[in-house]
Amino acid sequence: MGSKTRTPPTKLSLLLFLAIFVSSSQADYQQKETNMTLYFQDFSGGPNATVAIVTGIPGKVWSFFSFGTIFVTDDKITAGPERNSPEVGRGQGIYVTSSLDGANTHVLFSIVFTNKEYNGSTLEIQGRSIQLASVRESSVVGGTGNFRLAKGIATFETIYYDATIFYSIIRCNVTVLHI
Ligand SMILES: *[C@@H]1O[C@H](CO)[C@@H](O)[C@H](O)[C@H]1NC(C)=O
Ligand SMILES: *[C@@H]1O[C@H](CO)[C@@H](O)[C@H](O)[C@H]1NC(C)=O
Ligand SMILES: *[C@@H]1O[C@H](CO)[C@@H](O)[C@H](O)[C@H]1NC(C)=O
Ligand SMILES: *[C@@H]1O[C@H](CO)[C@@H](O)[C@H](O)[C@H]1NC(C)=O
Repeated sequence: MGSKTRTPPTKLSLLLFLAIFVSSSQADYQQKETNMTLYFQDFSGGPNATVAIVTGIPGKVWSFFSFGTIFVTDDKITAGPERNSPEVGRGQGIYVTSSLDGANTHVLFSIVFTNKEYNGSTLEIQGRSIQLASVRESSVVGGTGNFRLAKGIATFETIYYDATIFYSIIRCNVTVLHI
């Protein structure tokens, strides 16, 4: 009778052994840390706009500060702040104004590297961004290529704005752990 409820000790210890083995083998990845500063060349209007409205809530105003407005973006990313600085990648994805009061946007985009060093690799940026904050912080939730299993943070600061041509230069600092 008593033996019915006893767990066979060999099976249990095998399970424990496997669990320990699996978790320790994951920790064996050599984790690297990469810091970089990039510049987004952003045109929110004009003939060569790199940010455009896709849609919004029917019957409501569609804008950066209107809940529900969806944008698509493909900004040139450069090594230096100057407009003609060499391209190192593209910032491709979507933004959705996601707070009812219009203050926050949800950003969801890839940094797609096109430079020699990281060509074809990506970093995935996602999270809430407080649109008018001087420093906006978002998560790096993943990556590919050189940045597999990436996790980290990215800050965004608008360091130049020319309203006449809808042009902003946005500095992006990335700190990322990856394999
Ligand atoms: C990256 O930046 C962080 C935060 O500023 C710093 O603590 C770290 O030492 C830097 N790592 C490298 C590899 O430069
Ligand atoms: C838009 O892009 C075209 C093609 O690259 C260029 O000739 C034109 O000068 C640009 N216009 C502005 C306002 O930057
Ligand atoms: C990046 O890769 C693409 C596609 O493989 C290639 O056409 C391009 O020349 C590469 N760029 C650099 C800078 O190596
Ligand atoms: C981003 O990095 C630059 C140096 O490359 C530094 O001057 C700036 O303060 C950093 N911004 C943030 C928000 O950490």
